[in-house]
Amino acid sequence: MTRTARSPSKPRGRPILRWAGSKRQLVPTIRGLFPKNYERYLEPFAGSAAVFVAARPRRAVISDINPGLIEAYRVVRLEPGKVARQATRWPVSSDTYYRIRSIDPERLSSVGRAARFIYLNRYCFNGVYRENQQRRFNVPYGRTTGKMPRPAEFKAFAKLLKRARLVCCDFEETLRLAGKRDLVYVDPPYYAAGRVFKGEYGYAAFNSEDEDRLIAALTSAARRGAYLIVSYNGSLKARLPGWRAVRQRVIRNVGGFASKRKRIFEFIYTNIVADD
Ligand SMILES: C[S@@+](CC[C@H](N)C(=O)[O-])C[C@H]1O[C@@H](n2cnc3c(N)ncnc32)[C@H](O)[C@@H]1O
Repeated sequence: MTRTARSPSKPRGRPILRWAGSKRQLVPTIRGLFPKNYERYLEPFAGSAAVFVAARPRRAVISDINPGLIEAYRVVRLEPGKVARQATRWPVSSDTYYRIRSIDPERLSSVGRAARFIYLNRYCFNGVYRENQQRRFNVPYGRTTGKMPRPAEFKAFAKLLKRARLVCCDFEETLRLAGKRDLVYVDPPYYAAGRVFKGEYGYAAFNSEDEDRLIAALTSAARRGAYLIVSYNGSLKARLPGWRAVRQRVIRNVGGFASKRKRIFEFIYTNIVADD
C-alpha cells in the first residue's frame, strides 16, 4: 500500500484525548517531513496519537505502554457511541471528578472503564497522566479543560482507529516491526541527563538506559530501510549521525502550569532525505 503524503487530504476529526507533551503544535512540521509514499505507519509512543489522526494513514500500528490508554482506544473503536454517552453523562464538577477517580476501574465494564479514562483525561490538570505507587491515577481536577468531544467526534476517531492495530507494549517491540518503507513517528518522554531527579516514575519516566535502547532500535530500523521521524530534545544529534535535525520553537507549560508558559526548543530528527 502506498499513500501520497505530501498533498494530504484535509484532516478530519481530532484526537479524543488531551495529552501532556502532545505534538499537536508540531503536526504541520512533522507531516512536512513525510516521504511521498510509504507502506505502514507505526507510532510506538502514541499518547493522544495527534500525528496519526492528522496523517490518516491507511494501515497503522499504534502502541503505547499505558494499558488504560490502549484499552480505552480499543473500546472506543468498537463502541464509540456507548463510550461517548457514558463519558458525557457524568456532570463536569470537581466533586464528580474525584468520585469517578476514586472508582476502582476493575469494577467497571470495559465501556465504563474507557469512559472513566476519557472523563478523567478530559477534566484533569493539563492532560497529565500520572499514577501513585499503587498504580492508581492521581492527577487533580483541572480548571481549564476544554470540552468533552461530541459523539460524532468519538465516531470519527473510532473509524480511523479501524485502520490500526492497537498494541500495549514497550516501544522496542513496535520498532522491531518496522521494515523497508514503513514510516515510524517516535515521540518518547524526554530524558535530560543531569536533570535533578524529581521522583518521576511510570509512563512519564525515561532514563538513560531507555535512551540507549531507543538509539539501538532506531539504528536497526533505519538499517532495514524504515523511514523514521523522532521528536526529542537536542541531545541526540551526535547519537544519530547522518540524520537531519530540525530545531523547532514550541510553547510548553512549565511543570504543567498554563500560567507559566515558556518558549523552548524541541528537535525533530529524521533519516528521510528530501527526495524520498
Ligand atoms: C510524549 S508522550 C506522546 C505524545 C503523543 N505524541 C501525542 O501527540 O499525544 C509519550 C508517550 O510514551 C508512552 N511511553 C512511555 N514509556 C514508554 C515505553 N517504554 N514504551 C512505549 N511507550 C512508552 C507514554 O505512556 C506516553 O503516552
